[in-house]
Amino acid sequence: MDALELRERLAVAASSLRSCLEQQQAAGIAFLPAATGTQAEEPRGPVTAAEGGEVAAATDLQELRDVLGDCRRCKLSGGRSRIVYGVGRADADVMFIGEGPGEDEDREGEPFVGRAGQLLTDIITKGMRLRREDVYIANVVKCRPPRNRDPEPDEVAACEPFLVRQIELVRPRVIIALGRAAAQTLLRSTEAISRLRGRWHDYHGIRLMPTFHPAYLLRNPGEKRLVWEDIKSVLRELGTAA
Ligand code: URA
Repeated sequence: MDALELRERLAVAASSLRSCLEQQQAAGIAFLPAATGTQAEEPRGPVTAAEGGEVAAATDLQELRDVLGDCRRCKLSGGRSRIVYGVGRADADVMFIGEGPGEDEDREGEPFVGRAGQLLTDIITKGMRLRREDVYIANVVKCRPPRNRDPEPDEVAACEPFLVRQIELVRPRVIIALGRAAAQTLLRSTEAISRLRGRWHDYHGIRLMPTFHPAYLLRNPGEKRLVWEDIKSVLRELGTAA
């Protein structure tokens, strides 16, 4: 095809595109859908061997965050607004690990900022007499599961290298696993949270106390008493019990 022929064909294509758009406009269609490239992409799968090396080589939480990048490794990435990485002291003695961001966290990019988060903040400040910024808070998955469903095994697996490295970097004295998903994931257990909570477990040399999730406590306030027992065990372990 020579240049003249190409130009004529492009002119025909442009003219039919224009009349198509004019017809749509006349029918009241003011906007077109986004181009395919900006639509939710297929997840590209778990960390590659090379990325695994970068995760292991990250020497601080910011470097690790950079490796996480604009993560598209699992299907949760398609529905999130913001990645909720983690917040708090990089050398905290206490690390709380929840399940995954909810609506408020997805909007703000910070873990535990909704109603359950307010209760967690009360546990930290009123129960433990710590400041929220003195502990480290993270989740098993860093993107919000749709309709707050439980994270699925492939999603947990895709995110886990980052959580494991966060724990290694913070190296807390105590991990408090909030709820079933966090406790079962970290302990590789299928036991119910009601059986796991209230006793110490070992997470690669770090003392781990599972307890009920604050969202569960909002629905079952009578169980707060058991969480307070768990928190008192933690305070005894830290040597800061009243
Ligand atoms: N529930 C969680 O498990 N994590 C959050 O960050 C908020 C609610």
